[in-house]
Amino acid sequence: MSVIGSDLQKAIDLLLKDELVAIPTETVYGLAGNALSEVAITKIFEVKNRPFFDPLIIHTNDLGKISALIKNIPDEVKALAAQYMPGPLTILLEKTDLIPELITAGSNKVAVRIPAHPLTLKLLAALDFPLAAPSANPFGYISPTTAEHVNAQLGEKISYILDGGPCTVGLESTIVEWREDHFHVLRKGGVPLEQLGENVTFEEHSTSNPLAPGMLKSHYSPRIPLIIEPSLEDLEEYNIERIGVLTFQHPHKMIPLENQLILSKTGDVNEAARHLFSYMHELDEMDIDLIIAEYVPDEGLGKAINDKLKRAAI
Ligand code: TXA
Ligand code: MG
Repeated sequence: MSVIGSDLQKAIDLLLKDELVAIPTETVYGLAGNALSEVAITKIFEVKNRPFFDPLIIHTNDLGKISALIKNIPDEVKALAAQYMPGPLTILLEKTDLIPELITAGSNKVAVRIPAHPLTLKLLAALDFPLAAPSANPFGYISPTTAEHVNAQLGEKISYILDGGPCTVGLESTIVEWREDHFHVLRKGGVPLEQLGENVTFEEHSTSNPLAPGMLKSHYSPRIPLIIEPSLEDLEEYNIERIGVLTFQHPHKMIPLENQLILSKTGDVNEAARHLFSYMHELDEMDIDLIIAEYVPDEGLGKAINDKLKRAAI
């Protein structure tokens, strides 16, 4: 198992040597390496068991600092960046040749994010290169929202986990691209769609052309099968004692209470977002045969939560 701690200098030293460090952000924990080093980037793909066609987000504390890596930023994007950076937003920007092809999987645009986490902002400020950081989970599995989640999933493969406490948003960043005079949302996440203004379309996933593989249908999946809002018939073959429940606000009447996790007893979608991945991890550790979940209200972060639930389901 790897070391968990909050030693910034240790994280810096490792990153300078092309080693990987798990870092906290407000969305989920990332598996970080020098975005300009092919050695470090290759390690990220290996540790996550991630296919090379799935591009990586680069993280910086300041867009000005990476001006040599990106081409002009449209005014509309600048305005959005001023509002949500730092924050749970990732934007696609035209890249220069200084960005390794591996980062963007061949695309001419690179995904950029400024995470709103004090420890990671300090880390980024101390480095003169951006950090490539996908979520710190094995490809296709539930994203980590605590240092302990990272340790349980990837602890044997990385040397250091920088502990910044539980993630305060709990869902990955919203990914947007400015194209043909409006914003295209490629992944629903920590900035609710309603907050992006009028000029926004959501790109529905297509299997032949996953614009962002966070949009692949099967993603964020627990090991135990998860089904959403099943009928009584669907549950017939299961022993009630061996079913776990993920509900929004109220417990399921038929299932033992000790097998149930309630996302927000007060019915707050932001609190539900904070708990979502953590509770999915917890249910996945239980000795049960099935997880049943229910949709949350489809507003604010609820839209992103429902999207993740759909992708986690069998
Ligand atoms: O909140 C987050 O965004 C977290 C934290 C660690 O920053 N990171 C994260 O990274 O979720 P990852 O790799 O798990 O998901 C990034 C998503 C992937 O679906 C990837 O396909 C998409 O972003 N992506 C990255 N670069 C892209 C690009 N150039 N064009 C289109 N999609 C891109
Ligand atoms: Mg991910």
